[in-house]
Amino acid sequence: MQNPHSAPVPELYVSYDSAQKLKVEAGELVSHDLTPRQICDVELLMNGGFAPLKGFLGQADYDGVVENMRLADGTLWPMPITLDVSEAFAEGIEEGQDIALRDQEGVILATMTVTDKWVPDKAREAEKVFGADDDAHPAVNYLHNQAGNVYLGGPVTGITPPMHYDFKARRSTPNELRAFFRKMGWRRVVAFQTRNPLHRAHQELTFRAAKEAQANLLIHPVVGMTKPGDVDHFTRVRCYEAVLDKYPAATTHMSLLPLAMRMAGPREAVWHGLIRKNHGCTHFIVGRDHAGPGKNSQGEDFYGPYDAQDLFREHAEEMGIEMVPFKHMVYVQERAQYEPNDEIADKDNVTILNISGTELRRRLQEGLEIPDWFSFPEVVKELRRTRPPRSKQGFTVFFTGFSGSGKSTIANALMVKLMEMGGRPVTLLDGDIVRKNLSSELGFSKEHRDLNIRRIGYVASEITKNGGIAICAPIAPYATTRRAVREEIEAHGAFCEVHVATPLEECEARDRKGLYKLAREGKIKEFTGISDPYDEPKNPELRLDTTNTDVDHCAHQVLLKLESMGLIAG
Ligand code: PPS
Repeated sequence: MQNPHSAPVPELYVSYDSAQKLKVEAGELVSHDLTPRQICDVELLMNGGFAPLKGFLGQADYDGVVENMRLADGTLWPMPITLDVSEAFAEGIEEGQDIALRDQEGVILATMTVTDKWVPDKAREAEKVFGADDDAHPAVNYLHNQAGNVYLGGPVTGITPPMHYDFKARRSTPNELRAFFRKMGWRRVVAFQTRNPLHRAHQELTFRAAKEAQANLLIHPVVGMTKPGDVDHFTRVRCYEAVLDKYPAATTHMSLLPLAMRMAGPREAVWHGLIRKNHGCTHFIVGRDHAGPGKNSQGEDFYGPYDAQDLFREHAEEMGIEMVPFKHMVYVQERAQYEPNDEIADKDNVTILNISGTELRRRLQEGLEIPDWFSFPEVVKELRRTRPPRSKQGFTVFFTGFSGSGKSTIANALMVKLMEMGGRPVTLLDGDIVRKNLSSELGFSKEHRDLNIRRIGYVASEITKNGGIAICAPIAPYATTRRAVREEIEAHGAFCEVHVATPLEECEARDRKGLYKLAREGKIKEFTGISDPYDEPKNPELRLDTTNTDVDHCAHQVLLKLESMGLIAG
């Protein structure tokens, strides 16, 4: 029998000639600049990955999807694909109006006829779709803190797919994959969804799944948006390419999926299945805790480990794609092979080995051994290249404290000590240097101080990302701004906050620059500590008081802290 999924799936693109015409006409329309997540959604809407959707959901479809996983006409669809916009943008849009959807460079990807405009009940969406209105869930956090407050719905007319410059040959649309399977004569294809590097257990499991389903295998990793903190897709794809060689030739194919995941567990599994069906697959592997979002704010799992399998099983027939349930594979040392954990009869007599994701990250971070039974040397090499041990990663030391507290002096001493050690470039972003070179137009209002600190944070995060050491020494009086900078930097490396807690009286008594005197006389306004606030850091990595301690000792304290954080080798 011919694979029923081999016929082309409907796309939303117009013909080349119409697209040229539409592009010119769309230049006149009101434009919405798509967010990175919306760009992923638009791509899969246009290329048929989200068939049968014909655009962003209107209100009736949205309500049905949120309430019972069905479009208004009863079709199964578990995930709200919505165009969220700001209130300000929505105000100027009327129902029936065409708008242009642009990527972040301004290229018009599509037009949309707005048929619906409404303010969603985000708490209900969170409860129903993600299982809890809890910001610890990445998609709920996105919903409340990033998504606009108004949704627009309506059919989309595709002009051009988003541009990708990376791994072009590995990106296939649903119809390209269907054509490939037809050409290869692959009638049964089992897809494996992943957002993580593949190790031996995954290779073993996918190979077994393909054998069990008597199907060819499609490794179909997500390269759109995954869970914050995941290994970046560039590294992952290089890892996948290494693992591809481990499968018998011509049985396995890899294609990259530009999906923005929601980490919605059971609903996400059903969504993934429908997407794979659209890509021409007949089977889909669902594992333990499929697309799990991690722990909720009470430290518990959002979903049961096999909820995703249960929901998929319930709907598999209607979906038209079969589930291959994933078995938890573990390594049996005595037999030197991977086996499904629940099929090991002699558990008490054998040694079962397993390395968790957390343990793997620890080993990478500390440069420890990762055994051959766990992963392939090529994969480990790639991961080590991207995630060198902490002692080789970039980091930021962020001093904060009153003017005259000693921040700059300690920062200078620290810089010299780190340069003496060598190994990583060091940049000092001292308050005065920054105000001269980056923020010369700024004053000392809250708004200007925040801007100043944000700029410092941005530069430090770039330095950290590129493996250098950034030492910052501004007053940085506001806790919320310091927290934002910490978050920005921690995405790339460690952040060490040092509160130089020299008391105000001591700073004023020193009055090195004569500014406190002027501030007391009212000649300098908004002076930190005198006429402007300073939020004491609550949990800095280190607190120093320079009152009776010399600079050299203080800088040494910082070095010891960095050593204990694993940032400099002992
Ligand atoms: S902030 O709040 O972090 O943006 O400040 P920062 O960029 O570190 O700049 C602080 C230096 O500017 C001098 N100065 C003032 N400080 C505080 N309040 C007011 N109003 C002010 N006006 C000028 C002061 O010399 C600070 O230098 P440091 O190096 O902290 O002694």
